[in-house]
Amino acid sequence: MVIKDYYSISEVADILGKSTETLRRWDRDGKLSAVREPMSNYRVYCKEQLQLFPEFQNAENINHVVGNFVKPNNDYSVLELFAGAGGLAIGLEQSGIKCTALNEIDKWACQTLRTNRPSWNILEGDIKNFDFRQYENKVDIVTGGFPCQAFSYAGKKLGLKDARGTLFYEFARVIQEVKPAICIGENVRGLLNHENGETLKGMISILDEIGYNVVAPVQILKAINYNVPQKRERLILVGVRKDIDLEYVYPSPYEKVYNLSDALKKGELYDSKVPISKGTQYPENKKKVLDLIPPKGYWRDLPIDLQKEYMQKSFYLGGGKTGMARRIGWDEPCLTLTCSPAQKQTERCHPEETRPFTVREYARIQTFPDKWSFEGSVSQQYKQIGNAVPINLAKEIGYSLVKFLNEFYTEK
Ligand SMILES: C[S@@+](CC[C@H](N)C(=O)[O-])C[C@H]1O[C@@H](n2cnc3c(N)ncnc32)[C@H](O)[C@@H]1O
Repeated sequence: MVIKDYYSISEVADILGKSTETLRRWDRDGKLSAVREPMSNYRVYCKEQLQLFPEFQNAENINHVVGNFVKPNNDYSVLELFAGAGGLAIGLEQSGIKCTALNEIDKWACQTLRTNRPSWNILEGDIKNFDFRQYENKVDIVTGGFPCQAFSYAGKKLGLKDARGTLFYEFARVIQEVKPAICIGENVRGLLNHENGETLKGMISILDEIGYNVVAPVQILKAINYNVPQKRERLILVGVRKDIDLEYVYPSPYEKVYNLSDALKKGELYDSKVPISKGTQYPENKKKVLDLIPPKGYWRDLPIDLQKEYMQKSFYLGGGKTGMARRIGWDEPCLTLTCSPAQKQTERCHPEETRPFTVREYARIQTFPDKWSFEGSVSQQYKQIGNAVPINLAKEIGYSLVKFLNEFYTEK
């Protein structure tokens, strides 16, 4: 990001991860007021106001020169929970960390893991049915993208037993059994404000109870800052075992932002064009509508009658909804991929053809290697890919873990 004194509303929307409508509301409410730029008299936001937001501070700290790569001094190991099709696991492997075992309930995701890595130890089944004490003090890291569920929290300090029945409970239970030096919880941005932030607060207090300090503030990492051609965001919660007096540092973001062309064509990210593969199609009525949308356009590019017909009630609800009936442009990062590409309200149409991205295009946008195959029906494959942590983001998280563990074992 180029640091300057004033920012336009769309630049601020991008940096803070908010819609322009939210910013206009904040302007009206006084939460973040726009000012007049002295030369042009346009409404803009000044740097000093934005510096109060952690997202802006992160963008200011963009890594201009060096990368995050660190070579492991030893063999480090990870136990990966909720492993899915292996997005996080492949990225960690690329950073030099070895997978001791992976747990996953979905049979097709497990099949994907087995097909690609016959040597990995896949523990297939519900996490609730596994005892992980055999790994006690044997793995350095426990990771997991636990599905988020609310637990009752009445302002008191939450203990592990209060979260029973949730998958976060299982995540914490495994950490308690295994006692790794460091643990990583991965989730959607929404967890930050879930139940007004109480859910996350509860998770932090549970980790505290079982002997882990959560690194503050919990950060949202933007995939576009980590060599991923997609505007995906992930909340990354890091817990460090309390007997370890070392600082964990999140990976630094990169300045370069890749786009759809980098994902699907030969270039810096891939040395060939995207392989041909299966994919789904839009129903005829949706295709007729999307045929009218130009690259980088969305439902507002339709004639007004069609806008009303396509959007129905949403037309009158306000808000930009820029993700609806969206055609991605070659020169921009893709919007966040979902688990189903033809899902209503989240269309991400190919730039030149009126169709969703194919399985291999989906995988490229998530920075999976072309060699990584997916098992199950086409919709199972989309689901596994859409659920994953982008590999290039996971690799950078891996480097940050290697750096931490190198220091830990040096000090020991
Ligand atoms: C967000 S995805 C994880 C994605 C994965 N980290 C990746 O990068 O590819 C969450 C996974 O948790 C799995 N899951 C849900 N409930 C589970 C349970 N009770 N036991 C084990 N796995 C479970 C789902 O099948 C899903 O694959």
